[in-house]
Amino acid sequence: MSQPEILETLASLRARVRAWRAAGETVALVPTMGALHAGHISLVQLAKSRASRVLVSIFVNPTQFAPNEDFSKYPRTFDADKEKLAQAAADAIYAPQPAEMYPPGFSTTVSLTGPAAAGLEDRFRPTHFAGVATVVSKLHIQAMPDIAIYGEKDFQQLAVIRQMTRDLDLPIEVLGGETIREADGLALSSRNVYLDAAQREAAPLLNATMHESAARIRAGEASEIVMAEGRAKIAAAGFALDYLELRDAISLGAPDIALDKPLRMLVAAKIGVTRLIDNIAV
Ligand code: PAF
Repeated sequence: MSQPEILETLASLRARVRAWRAAGETVALVPTMGALHAGHISLVQLAKSRASRVLVSIFVNPTQFAPNEDFSKYPRTFDADKEKLAQAAADAIYAPQPAEMYPPGFSTTVSLTGPAAAGLEDRFRPTHFAGVATVVSKLHIQAMPDIAIYGEKDFQQLAVIRQMTRDLDLPIEVLGGETIREADGLALSSRNVYLDAAQREAAPLLNATMHESAARIRAGEASEIVMAEGRAKIAAAGFALDYLELRDAISLGAPDIALDKPLRMLVAAKIGVTRLIDNIAV
């Protein structure tokens, strides 16, 4: 099993991608914050099926965490991540230090509207997407891959990145990878390690409630009533619900059910100190 090459500087990343390009290779980038699980590995597999070289970035991006969030305690598991990426046959890992990404005097932020202002995650994490879009635009420009792959689990993030990549004319195809789940429906997340046994047992209720609600809406029940009942059920199970929403799957704006356009249901709720998010197609 060959080991992925570790690239810690922008110069080494650029040299590596330049050499691949000179050899006629295509490049897929899978940006991550590490703490890799089967969900990330499925993105690497998707990348391998779409490009001849796969580059995975590992960078816990400080600018997407608010001061009250878990930046300092976010799991950092580089050696285990490297091992998983070797097994998945990734070609290289880009793992810059914060000062490489944000040198002293760094002063630029990507400013967003559209799907970033849909009143979902942005309502509870108002500075989050500016941080995500800033680091992702840097990663896209630094690596300039043919394809960049993001998990559908962070569905609003995926919509924001698609829009930003299009708006900034970056010649990169943004692909979404399906959410990978535990057998009971819980979406894999690096934050699931924070759940205690009782919380872990309760957590799949979010996904189950979405499926139940989606089935009722597909069967023709009034979405407002179904969604209100879904919210009540989640709250009654002890979650602090941030939102359970039905949205247009592309704009993330209000859905027009009569138009037969793709719809997405999205949820975010806290159980104990852990905030879980999930979404499904309706
Ligand atoms: O989804 C993530 O892990 C992060 O938000 C991303 C896209 C790597 C940007 O830091």
